[in-house]
Amino acid sequence: MTFKNTLYAGAAFVGLVVTAVGPANAAGRLSVICSADNEWCEMMETAFELEHDIDVSMVRKSSGEAYAQVRAEASNPKLDIWWGGTGDPHLQAAAEGLTEEYTSPQLGDLQDWAVRQAKNADNKTVGIYAGALGIGYNNDLLAKKGLPAPKCWKDLADPAYKGEVQIANPSSSGTSYTTLATLVQLFGEEEAFDFLKEMHKNVNQYTKSGSAPIKAAAVGETTIGITFMHDMIAQIKQGADLTVVSPCEGTGYEVGSMSIIKGARNLENAKIWAEFALSAKTQSIAEDAHSYQVPSNKEARIPDGAPRLDELKLIDYDFAKYGDAEVRRHLLSRWDDEVKNAPQ
Ligand code: F6P
Repeated sequence: MTFKNTLYAGAAFVGLVVTAVGPANAAGRLSVICSADNEWCEMMETAFELEHDIDVSMVRKSSGEAYAQVRAEASNPKLDIWWGGTGDPHLQAAAEGLTEEYTSPQLGDLQDWAVRQAKNADNKTVGIYAGALGIGYNNDLLAKKGLPAPKCWKDLADPAYKGEVQIANPSSSGTSYTTLATLVQLFGEEEAFDFLKEMHKNVNQYTKSGSAPIKAAAVGETTIGITFMHDMIAQIKQGADLTVVSPCEGTGYEVGSMSIIKGARNLENAKIWAEFALSAKTQSIAEDAHSYQVPSNKEARIPDGAPRLDELKLIDYDFAKYGDAEVRRHLLSRWDDEVKNAPQ
């Protein structure tokens, strides 16, 4: 156990004590919806409570589901901050007036892609990390089944992979929506949907959470998983025997984001969280929670093994267009109508 892990294990214990004594002892409150990996969400909560006399209540939901909750509660917001999750639904929420404008004094410390995300939303969201999509497979299963190694997106339509591919549902999962938008940008909408209908014949399950398919591949429940590469690295670092593929046609990426909820009951505490979350110190703890995204603060420690965006064949992902409410609604309903329930 590293010193840091010891510190946060201790912090987890302190967190338990604080909860046991009751929130009445904390000066303030904060309601957070978290769309990053659960382990990182919990570590953020613990680290924040250690630094601030604010009691955090946190729920973890996938990006699309978190967006749906923020939207459903618009007339009576119960959440103060939405931390993590892919940028597209954050942009949609911003455009729909569901999030609060806030310009952090730390904006100048952030990578250009994080600042662009804020600009695209009139500062109603901001980038906190980035990561690229990939195809991951279980080496042992692939070999045992005598399957060819996939190298490209289009390979995943090969009938040889029947029942071998897992990906999340793009309505609930930001990872899967980013994949859908990436394919549309790579191939054009018609060809992308033709491909998705073919690949559908090979899909064994559309999961709710974006990282679930690679967790399933890690334990041998599926041969291939489509997720962000950093979620694959997290499994490999914990012992899984997986190969990470950067698709030959090029790949898309996310700007994981954070937004303050419009009408937040604890607005000042939400701003305190925002500053905490944008700091290099806080972003540097991600690796201790097995999270391998590239942090948005230029001074933050880049986790060892984090896939570097500048070394990948990335598309010029159009965040403004694919975060647009109409475009997102259109692609998701087309996917529901034409792909989800198509015969296998
Ligand atoms: O597991 C972490 C992560 O991949 C983040 O990088 C990303 O923002 C989030 O999960 C997306 O989760 P989901 O696809 O479940 O919305």
